[in-house]
Amino acid sequence: MRLFFALWPDDGVRAQLAHWSRELHAACGGRPTRPENVHVTLAFLGSVEDARAAQVERAAGEVAPRATTLVLDQPGYWKHNRIAWASASVVPGELDVLVAELRSALARSHIGFDSKGFVSHVTLLRDANEPKAMPALEPIQWNLDGFALVRSLTLPRGSRYEVLRSWRA
Ligand code: 2AM
Repeated sequence: MRLFFALWPDDGVRAQLAHWSRELHAACGGRPTRPENVHVTLAFLGSVEDARAAQVERAAGEVAPRATTLVLDQPGYWKHNRIAWASASVVPGELDVLVAELRSALARSHIGFDSKGFVSHVTLLRDANEPKAMPALEPIQWNLDGFALVRSLTLPRGSRYEVLRSWRA
């Protein structure tokens, strides 16, 4: 199965991100991430054998989830992959520590993951055009209280993400 660790928004944050997505879509078009799929990836594992899933969960259990607040106040666009996203101008130290601890726990258990550095962002639109100007958007306050292990399912109508387990502060 294809797995990744993520910050998984509650319904309130999800609704606010859906609003950002609509506003951004008006500015740059593209393919919106389905509202129920939006998240921040902390570590992308990719394909993992079913038999190793318990090991992945055990590794995550070694990490202390931390409560903190992530303020999404920055819409943006990457030309190289044509993604429009929501991000935070200030990433709380607790989040950086969480990602570092999670990745160390995975490495200690010899669980592979994409080692590209953590860039805190929520992908809202793919195949988007560069906007002439970014819309002004109301910041979103996201109270983080843990993280989730998510499975990515490829269905005929696109990806569906399913939370397998969460760890809370
Ligand atoms: P993205 O949103 O920036 O595209 C599920 O595929 C999630 O894992 C997506 O949020 C995706 O990031 C992220 N991800 C990180 N590294 C990835 C990789 N090497 N392949 C696919 N998805 C990756």
